[in-house]
Amino acid sequence: MKLWGGRFSKSTDAMVDDFNSSIRFDQRLYRQDIAGSMAHVTMLGQQGIISQEEAQAIRSGLEAILGSIENGDAAFDIDAEDIHMNIEKMLIQRIGDVGKKLHTGRSRNDQVALDMRMYVREEIRVLQSMVADLHRVLLDQSAEHLDTIMPGYTHLQKAQPITFAHHLMAYFEMLKRDTQRLSDVWKRTNVLPLGAGALATTTYPLDREAVAGLLDFDGICLNSLDAVSDRDFCLELLGALSILMMHLSRFSEEIILWCTNEFQFIELDDAYSTGSSIMPQKKNPDIAELVRGKTGRVYGDMVALLATMKSLPLAYNKDMQEDKEATFDAIDTVKMCLPIFTDMLRTMKVNRNRMRQGASGGFTNATDAADYLVKKGVPFRDAHEIVGKLVYRCIQTDQTLEGLSLEEYKALSPVFGPDIYDAISLETCVNKRQVIGGPSRAMMEKVIALNEAFLQQE
Ligand code: ARG
Repeated sequence: MKLWGGRFSKSTDAMVDDFNSSIRFDQRLYRQDIAGSMAHVTMLGQQGIISQEEAQAIRSGLEAILGSIENGDAAFDIDAEDIHMNIEKMLIQRIGDVGKKLHTGRSRNDQVALDMRMYVREEIRVLQSMVADLHRVLLDQSAEHLDTIMPGYTHLQKAQPITFAHHLMAYFEMLKRDTQRLSDVWKRTNVLPLGAGALATTTYPLDREAVAGLLDFDGICLNSLDAVSDRDFCLELLGALSILMMHLSRFSEEIILWCTNEFQFIELDDAYSTGSSIMPQKKNPDIAELVRGKTGRVYGDMVALLATMKSLPLAYNKDMQEDKEATFDAIDTVKMCLPIFTDMLRTMKVNRNRMRQGASGGFTNATDAADYLVKKGVPFRDAHEIVGKLVYRCIQTDQTLEGLSLEEYKALSPVFGPDIYDAISLETCVNKRQVIGGPSRAMMEKVIALNEAFLQQE
């Protein structure tokens, strides 16, 4: 017999039970569901809507059910449709008729919205602690590579020398915004929908403030139609996770490039690489590739829920049951990616010589050669032209800017003096960039200190 079976004269088709049921995937909400029910029933007792003894009996029953689910001896039932009715059914079986009072003044519509909000707010904290672990590794590695010069790129063409610390800390900033975005989602998630009922609240004198207090919500949804039909908090989470994965994916792409024979900037630890079943020489960056690949999956979850919500009239519609698999899948995926990505970074070997070699080729110091002339009074456009010609000459004769003789320099501009060599050394190019945000050791030390403080509060 269904909990809602009263108005039906026959039972649902078996295929319908299967189709309609969400217990396969929403059973993971059991803790939130039970905590929400306990708070609801406590409030019902306090308000005299049910007696205090009844409230107590229901609470004890729920506690026992929590224990049995946690021990693995509770069997969920497809016929009972979802986690909410499964638990209610178990309660009635366990404590008898008094269990039938649990659902007074409540609907599954506000109940499921509550469970999802509680689940999302908890998972946000877990995700943030994983981001903090990655932050820690980035900061520690950066501190070690303040003088590890590498080429910086635009258009994937060598542009100007930077350091590995500077490059890593770019990702630190991205992840900082990710965790801030998650905090922001948390705030809007932490608003209580319970009390909205099916859509129009209830005639019982509910005390929603009390329930919010018991469940640590910062506020109460102020419109019951919105409370039961809002999934913005899931969408915001999916948006924040999509952006986070986009960052991990860009980072992965770079790691994949850096591991190639062409780059050889880094080597991943054997424990975080895989081989080929046919090519004996291979060591593949599968972890980075999979993180890049799973990014598409998280975007898919976000787009799926956006599409589900797009045309839904107010208030609750069963379509919204689809919020769960998308939200859970994205959370699970990011929770799998973050720790393995962090360990992959922690254990990688950095090839300082190759990075430096990379920075020495490709005229990454050409801007600094032009700036040298500017500092001696040549207008920047003219300086740009002169150095362009020097670079052209180097390409023709297979030389580097630092390899040209002073005569060759002077042939293009008499302003050049012997101090040009120092002005275009890689160390100068990096460390004379004394603008905050830039790669010089002094600036990086400042930024690392600021971010160390950020990590302390994270
Ligand atoms: N399993 C449902 C869901 O996840 C719970 C709410 C069902 N409400 C209803 N009126 N059928 O959305």
